[in-house]
Amino acid sequence: MSAHPHPRVLVCGASGRLGQLLVPRLLARQARPRVFVRQAATARALWGDTVEIAQGCFEDAATLGKALVGIERLFLLSPISPALAEQQLRVVEAARAAGVRHIVKLSGSDWTIAPPGHSLSGDAHRRIEEGLQASGISHVVLRPNAWMQVGLSRIAGELRTGVVIRSQHLGAGVSYIDARDIADVAVEALLNPEAAQQRLGTATGPWVLTGSQALRPQKLAEIASRLMGRPITAAAPVAAAADPFIAQVHGEFFALMRAGHAAAVTATVGQVLGREARTVEGYLAEELGALAVAV
Ligand SMILES: NC(=O)c1ccc[n+]([C@@H]2O[C@H](COP(=O)([O-])OP(=O)(O)OC[C@H]3O[C@@H](n4cnc5c(N)ncnc54)[C@H](OP(=O)(O)O)[C@@H]3O)[C@@H](O)[C@H]2O)c1
Repeated sequence: MSAHPHPRVLVCGASGRLGQLLVPRLLARQARPRVFVRQAATARALWGDTVEIAQGCFEDAATLGKALVGIERLFLLSPISPALAEQQLRVVEAARAAGVRHIVKLSGSDWTIAPPGHSLSGDAHRRIEEGLQASGISHVVLRPNAWMQVGLSRIAGELRTGVVIRSQHLGAGVSYIDARDIADVAVEALLNPEAAQQRLGTATGPWVLTGSQALRPQKLAEIASRLMGRPITAAAPVAAAADPFIAQVHGEFFALMRAGHAAAVTATVGQVLGREARTVEGYLAEELGALAVAV
């Protein structure tokens, strides 16, 4: 891989939850992010003229090809949908044709991918990982556990109006990861993959990213009680998503979580970043801090 000190990185999904965390981190490291977005105005509102903007979509080969011109490294992310595998395999093929040297793929949680056959989105991510392997392009696959910013972000809203937090995995622990840690690891995987891999030792294959602790919802309620200064309990369940495909995917996730599959803890975040993973307590303190003052 070229050792260009300021590599040009195409970021897919830049305007999304993780992409919005990744782009400023790349800028801070003097990488040159080019963001692949469906609406240029969205990117301009987020980053002004600090990034290169490539307007397009995964379904439009011409915009994708143009976005990849001169790109050395690629961050590959797209949202869960029935098109997930096709979209990302199309990007991998276009990246190969464009001579991209290194790809970091944001994949599914480890327990959705292995063993196969339990999760529509996990199976799609597995197909993409296989396509990436077959492409021969240098790559790192990130398999993050459930994100705090998704699984726990609802809690502050619930506590604004009540004293109950709702969870789909009552009785089972989940080692939630802070999406900022995923973004920090993604930066290393993009800009310093060899050094990061060395810190991981001989382990090869996907980087399985988790928080430092698996917590049951009852424990989350205890933490919230402490932070809010009033008793809070955990209960099931939350309403299902309106989109039938997403509702099915979520149903699969929740069944696997309830069976304890999302509770594993890995040391990968600490090894790659040289510091501890951010904690659920810290995340909830930020989310609930303002609320505790307001009530
Ligand atoms: N949440 C979790 O706990 C978790 C755990 C493990 C893995 N993951 C994985 O994380 C990924 C989702 O990440 P996220 O939450 O950051 O995504 P997100 O917030 O839903 O953002 C999706 C991004 O993709 C862009 N996009 C959508 N369709 C596109 C298209 N046809 N062409 C080009 N761009 C398109 C969107 O751009 P626009 O601005 O144009 O809409 C947006 O920037 C999924 O692959 C999921 O499997 C999530």
